[in-house]
Amino acid sequence: MKALQDNTFKQLRDFIYERSGIFISDSKKYLLENRLTKRIQEKKLNSYEDYLYLLLYGNSTDELMKLFDAVTTNETFFFRESQQLDVFIDHIVPSILKKQGAKDIAIWSAACSTGEEPYTLSMLLLEKGYIVKKEIVASDISEGTLESAKKAVYNSYSIRNIPMQYLKKYFKPNGQNYELSPIVKNTVKFMNINLIDDRKMKLVTAKDVIFCRNVLIYFDDKAKQKAVSLLYDSLKPGGYLIIGLSESLHNVTRALKPVVINKAVVYQRV
Ligand SMILES: C[S@@+](CC[C@H](N)C(=O)[O-])C[C@H]1O[C@@H](n2cnc3c(N)ncnc32)[C@H](O)[C@@H]1O
Repeated sequence: MKALQDNTFKQLRDFIYERSGIFISDSKKYLLENRLTKRIQEKKLNSYEDYLYLLLYGNSTDELMKLFDAVTTNETFFFRESQQLDVFIDHIVPSILKKQGAKDIAIWSAACSTGEEPYTLSMLLLEKGYIVKKEIVASDISEGTLESAKKAVYNSYSIRNIPMQYLKKYFKPNGQNYELSPIVKNTVKFMNINLIDDRKMKLVTAKDVIFCRNVLIYFDDKAKQKAVSLLYDSLKPGGYLIIGLSESLHNVTRALKPVVINKAVVYQRV
């Protein structure tokens, strides 16, 4: 197949950006080229131009879903960035429950990839004896990752950070893999939600805590602002937004206030 021409690259890049917020810089052209090859072969097309035309004029939601699967980076694992998880379970959850005098807490893992993040949150809550009555909502733009999340069977890479007590209690070995117990699985509800789609984002409301980690790094400032403002709307007053350890909302929003708890920065809707 002919190499991806600059002009086609720019059109594909714009198409992806408009629909997902993901911005692919010129230096990442090779990445896009690699990631689309398989899909172009599957569709039995001859060039990147043909694929661009299919996206522009084919009007197919199915192809858009396949495109999202191809262009997203889905790296994740259980108990990722545990410093924030400690802050969540030891400080944020008790303070919200105390304030509300309630037993339950409304949580959303936005951009959950293959499910390790929401399942980690669920295990933390279960382990502390909290009853997870309301399901944890978990969402992603990639249908492929959501399918895998619902199966909840994980390889050794995903589980490498899980403390032994959790592994023993909540997983069953399955060949080379590990199968998550239904006790945890049933506490999470998966949805396909694009962080820059107003209509879809409005489906999730009144959350106490939203995790949106390691996804905004793929957006430019404009898309970040849009996603964060929609996430803000989905938070209860006093609720928390938790982004990745290496990320910042500097210049993105003033509506959410950075709060430092045990050296971890989280953002609060005031
Ligand atoms: C690197 S993973 C992070 C997973 C998890 N939050 C973590 O920190 O381990 C980023 C995820 O963001 C998703 N994503 C990218 N753009 C998105 C968008 N516009 N809306 C929703 N999810 C998106 C990708 O599909 C991918 O699964």
